[in-house]
Amino acid sequence: MINFSAVAVVTIDGKIAKNKNHHTNWSSRADKIFLKTQIEKSDVIVVGHNTYNVAKKNLPNHIFLKRKYIVLTSRPKKNVFGHNVLWCDPEKVDLLALVKKYNYKKICVLGGTKTYTTLMKQNLINELFLTIEPIIFGSGLNLFDGENFSAKFRLRSIKKLNSLGTILLHYLKLN
Ligand SMILES: NC(=O)c1ccc[n+]([C@@H]2O[C@H](COP(=O)([O-])OP(=O)(O)OC[C@H]3O[C@@H](n4cnc5c(N)ncnc54)[C@H](OP(=O)(O)O)[C@@H]3O)[C@@H](O)[C@H]2O)c1
Repeated sequence: MINFSAVAVVTIDGKIAKNKNHHTNWSSRADKIFLKTQIEKSDVIVVGHNTYNVAKKNLPNHIFLKRKYIVLTSRPKKNVFGHNVLWCDPEKVDLLALVKKYNYKKICVLGGTKTYTTLMKQNLINELFLTIEPIIFGSGLNLFDGENFSAKFRLRSIKKLNSLGTILLHYLKLN
């Protein structure tokens, strides 16, 4: 079975970043460890072009290059893998058919806003791991934005990750 697992870390005020270039270095160590585990369990990562650029700029090369990415863009550069990247316009290409073609079963959706929104609106997300950090940005990018849709979930687990009160929520999507 193919599973699209969205993983995100948000502030108390529901922001995933201050702006589109903001690297997610503000999350706790506990969340970074959790994220790493989720990435290592997955066959491929789905990210938007902006998040891909931020990761490329900020992650050490040996980590960035060993991962496989499907990068969403309205201007795909290639339709096949270069070294580790498949560029995809989700408005023109069926993402589910694409992951089936490459035999990917565990898909880790890592945002940002536009990407979480696109995949949620396309009804592709099966589960959501949401970390809430005890921090506020005041303004910034929402987890989802710019589209009118609704989705229902069942809370599967709640875990406190550290003494500051970082909370990890695991939601399963209801059909
Ligand atoms: N806190 C967290 O868990 C978390 C997770 C991930 C990212 N982030 C942060 O979020 C920020 C980026 O978020 P973002 O919303 O600006 O960007 P994003 O989703 O990473 O990238 C947006 C870009 O992806 C492409 N794209 C996405 N959906 C598309 C669609 N339906 N059709 C065509 N193209 C599509 C477009 O690229 P083109 O411009 O090439 O067409 C669009 O400009 C960064 O600061 C990043 O660090 C935070």
